[in-house]
Amino acid sequence: MAFANQQATVYNDTVVRQFAIMTVVWGVVGMLVGVIIAAQLAWPELNLGIPWLTYGRLRPLHTNAVIFAFGGSALFATVYYVVQRTCQVRLFSDKLASFTFWGWQLVIVAAALSLPLGFTQGKEYAELEWPIDILITLVWVAYAVVFFGTVGTRKVKHIYVANWFFGAFILAVAILHLVNSAAMPAGPMKSYSAYAGVQDAMIQWWYGHNAVGFFLTAAFLGMMYYFIPKQAGRPVYSYRLSIVHFWALIFTYMWAGPHHLHYTALPDWTQSVGMVFSLILLAPSWGGMINGIMTLSGAWHKLRDDPILRFLIVSLSFYGMSTFEGPMMSIKTVNALSHYTDWTVGHVHSGALGWVGLVTMGSMYYLIPKLFGQKQMYSVKAIEVHFWTATIGIVIYIAAMWIAGVMQGLMWRAINADGTLTYTFVESVKATYPFYVLRLLGGLLYLTGMLIMLWNTLKTATAGRAVDITIPAAVAHA
Ligand code: HEM
Ligand code: HEM
Repeated sequence: MAFANQQATVYNDTVVRQFAIMTVVWGVVGMLVGVIIAAQLAWPELNLGIPWLTYGRLRPLHTNAVIFAFGGSALFATVYYVVQRTCQVRLFSDKLASFTFWGWQLVIVAAALSLPLGFTQGKEYAELEWPIDILITLVWVAYAVVFFGTVGTRKVKHIYVANWFFGAFILAVAILHLVNSAAMPAGPMKSYSAYAGVQDAMIQWWYGHNAVGFFLTAAFLGMMYYFIPKQAGRPVYSYRLSIVHFWALIFTYMWAGPHHLHYTALPDWTQSVGMVFSLILLAPSWGGMINGIMTLSGAWHKLRDDPILRFLIVSLSFYGMSTFEGPMMSIKTVNALSHYTDWTVGHVHSGALGWVGLVTMGSMYYLIPKLFGQKQMYSVKAIEVHFWTATIGIVIYIAAMWIAGVMQGLMWRAINADGTLTYTFVESVKATYPFYVLRLLGGLLYLTGMLIMLWNTLKTATAGRAVDITIPAAVAHA
C-alpha cells in the first residue's frame, strides 16, 4: 500500500474547542448588551445615570462584542477546523494558535473595559485605542501565519474554495486594520487619526464597508461553503460558480465604501462609483446564495427534519435579502430617504442576525458535538426551539425597523404648502416609540435562543469529553 508508512494526523482541535465555546459565551454577552441598548432607546432612563452605562458607551460595546467577540471567535474556530480537514494536516503551529486564542480573548476583555470607561478613537467598528490595536495586529499576524502555514504544508494538491474565502478575509482585514487605525498616540489611551477631514471619512468607510464585506461576509461564506455540503451530505452545487463568486465578490466589495457617504463633502463622482459598484455587487452575492441553496437540490426533504440544515439554509435567505436591500439603499435617491433612519439598522440586523448569526449557529451545532466526541448535540429538540425563537425574533426586529425607518424618512421630508416642515423632529421620535418596544421584543427572543444554545452546549460538553480527532493519512476529507 502506497500509504502504509504515512503517519496518522491528529488535528489540533483544542483551539477549535476553545474558540467554539467562547463563540457561544460572547454571543450571549454581545446580544445581552444589544437588548440593553434596545431597551435604553425605548426608556432612556435605563442608563441609571451612570456614565459607564450610557447608550453612547454601550453601543460600541455591543457592536464590538457581536462582531469581533462572537463573530471573530466563530471565525477562528471554523477556519482552524476547516483548514485542517481540507488540507489534511495539523495546524502549522500549536503555540501560535494558542497565542491567537488567549490574545484575542485579551483584546475582547480590553474592549469590554475600555469602551464603557469612555476610551474611543471615535471610528465606527474601529473604536479601540492604539495599545489594543497593536495587540490586534500581533494576534492577526499569528493567525495569518497559522492559516497560510497550514495551507502551505497541506497534503492535498487542491485548495478548497472555503480556504480562498478565509485567506482573502485574513489578508483584507489585516490591510484594513493597519490603514484605518494609523494614528498618532497622545497618551496611553488617546490618539489622533493620521488622516483629516474628508480623507479620514473616506478611509473610515472604506474600512467600514469592507469590514462588512470581508469580516461579516467573505469569511462567513467560507463557513457556508464547508458546512452546508457537510450537513447536506452533498457536494457544492457548482464548484465553478464558487470560484467566479469568489473573484467577483472580492474585486467588487473594495470599491463600494462611498455609499456610506452619500450627499457628504466627498467628491460626487466618488459617491457615484460607490453606488455603481454596490449595484454590481448584487450579482456575485446572489450567485453565492444560489450556489449554497442549490447544494440542497435533490435533498430538500432534509430541511423537514434537520434543524441544523435549516439554520444554514435560512441564513442564506437572509443573506440574499440583505444583499438585495443593500444595493437598493446605495442608490442615491433611495439613500436620501433611508440614511440616518432605522431602515439602516433594519438592514444591518437582517444581515447580522439573519445571515451572520444563523450561519454561525448552524455551523457550531455541527461542530460542537464532534469536538466532544458526541454524535449530536445533547438536545436536538432544543436546536429546533432555538431555530424558531431566533427566526421569529429576527422577523419582528427587522420588520419593526423597516416600518420605523421609512416612517422617519417620510416624516422628516414632509413639507406643508408654505414650505414649512409638517412634523417636528420630536414627533418622529414619539412615533418611533412602539417600534422600539417591538424591536426589544424581537431582540429578547433572539437572545433567548442564544441562551438555549448555551445550555445545550454545556450539556453536550459535560456529557462528552474533549477529543482531538485523528485521521489516518490516506482517508479523504473528514
Ligand atoms: C439580541 C440581539 C440584538 C439586539 C437586540 C441588537 C440591538 C441593537 C441596537 C439597539 C443597536 C443600535 C441601533 C441604533 O443606534 O439605532 C444595534 C446596532 C448594531 N448591531 Fe445589534 N443587536 C443584536 C444583535 C446583533 C448581532 C448578532 C450583530 C452582528 C453580528 C449586531 C450588529 C450590530 C451593528 C453592526 C450595529 C450598528 C448599526 C449601525 O451603525 O447602523 N447586532 N444593535
Ligand atoms: C451587496 C451587499 C450590500 C450592499 C451593497 C450594502 C449596502 C449598504 C448601504 C447602502 C448601507 C447604508 C449606508 C448609509 O446610508 O449610511 C449599508 C449599511 C450597512 N450594512 Fe450593508 N450592504 C450589503 C450587505 C450587507 C450585509 C450582508 C451586511 C451584514 C452582514 C451589511 C451590514 C451593514 C452595516 C453594519 C451597515 C451600517 C453601517 C453603519 O452606518 O454603521 N450589509 N449597507
